[in-house]
Amino acid sequence: MARILVTGGTGYIGSHTCVELLESGHQVIVLDNLRNSNVKSLAVVEELTGQQVTFYQGDIRDAELLRQIFEKEAIDHVIHFAGLKAVGESSQIPLDYYDNNISGTVNLLKVMADYGCKNIIFSSSATVYGNPHTVPITEEFPLSATNPYGRTKLMLEEILTDLYHSDKSWNIVLLRYFNPIGAHVSGDLGEDPRGIPNNLLPYVTQVAVGKLKQVSVFGDDYDTVDGTGVRDYIHVVDLAKGHVAALKRLAPETGLSIYNLGTGQGYSVLEIIQQMSETVGRDIPYQIVARRPGDIATCYAKVDKASRELGWTATLGIKQMCDDAWRWQSKHPQGFED
Ligand code: NAD
Ligand code: UD1
Repeated sequence: MARILVTGGTGYIGSHTCVELLESGHQVIVLDNLRNSNVKSLAVVEELTGQQVTFYQGDIRDAELLRQIFEKEAIDHVIHFAGLKAVGESSQIPLDYYDNNISGTVNLLKVMADYGCKNIIFSSSATVYGNPHTVPITEEFPLSATNPYGRTKLMLEEILTDLYHSDKSWNIVLLRYFNPIGAHVSGDLGEDPRGIPNNLLPYVTQVAVGKLKQVSVFGDDYDTVDGTGVRDYIHVVDLAKGHVAALKRLAPETGLSIYNLGTGQGYSVLEIIQQMSETVGRDIPYQIVARRPGDIATCYAKVDKASRELGWTATLGIKQMCDDAWRWQSKHPQGFED
């Protein structure tokens, strides 16, 4: 059992991962500046697991604070979620994104090296595949980025790869997430986006709960089953478990490994709206609008590598994802402030 520093651990994926880590017997130390999250998520994590989390409020760019943490906490592994993730915003304030995501990560890696902690799991994204030439997407597909957010993920993958080639005692796992949705089955831990959500699922649940009027479906003229965009939605709890599985990869040997974390199955926007309508028991209003610039038609993963090498596969289906997302949204319409 290991002592794990979880950066960004109060956020959406981080908090769910803390639950799975604690339930697997690991000790969890969280560092988060709360820029996009609520510290109350950790109280829920503690309640759900009956275990304690050590929390540091601060920034991954603060080298002094990082040193204090490594000095005091005897960290074995780092799971690095901390970062800014809004695609649209990243085009408006690119320097913030490069500073936060890239400088922040480089700072973290330097302090890790100083303390001889060279085991890191990094949150990458399917966004690094750009506009894939075909599906399903394997880990060997060519990489590209179309916006500053995506570029930070791509650059960080390259930085981590350079680091590994310079010093083979590093042990690095790059996890490329597809589209995480859903919430903890308790309905007490979930995604709590600030302002109007950019992503489909939180938008749909906020329409369902009456906070927003209708879903705008971005285009119905793609070459897909019903003309709307197709994505590989993955339950956030499955995704969280993928990190626990990836830890096993850090343990015995050094290396650099890359895994897609998805389900391997694509759903269209209309299929998601239909499933969520069934979950809530009434039709969710929507209208078709223009395509969103930068969107692609279809994106889903080939997931054999994670299954083969990590012994991990996503098990929760789309109904469970929608049921759990809805339980969280309807129990806590104002997120963690409820
Ligand atoms: P999130 O915003 O809920 O969590 C990120 C956390 O990092 C937040 O709690 C935020 O306060 C914190 N943070 C940001 N900058 C920080 C800094 N400089 N110092 C300390 N803390 C900082 O997002 P999430 O959905 O949980 O995503 C986690 C990671 O996974 C991110 O790196 C994101 O880019 C990546 N990712 C997310 C998705 C997705 O759809 N949610 C998809 C692919 C990849
Ligand atoms: C977005 C990001 C991507 C990131 C991923 C996971 C963009 C352009 N891309 O991808 O970089 O890795 O989230 O966080 O933002 N849709 C609607 N109406 C809405 C919202 C979305 O029709 O109000 C459609 C989109 O066109 C898409 C699907 O729903 O077909 C999913 O959208 P979204 O949840 O934003 O995720 P991605 O676009 O896959």
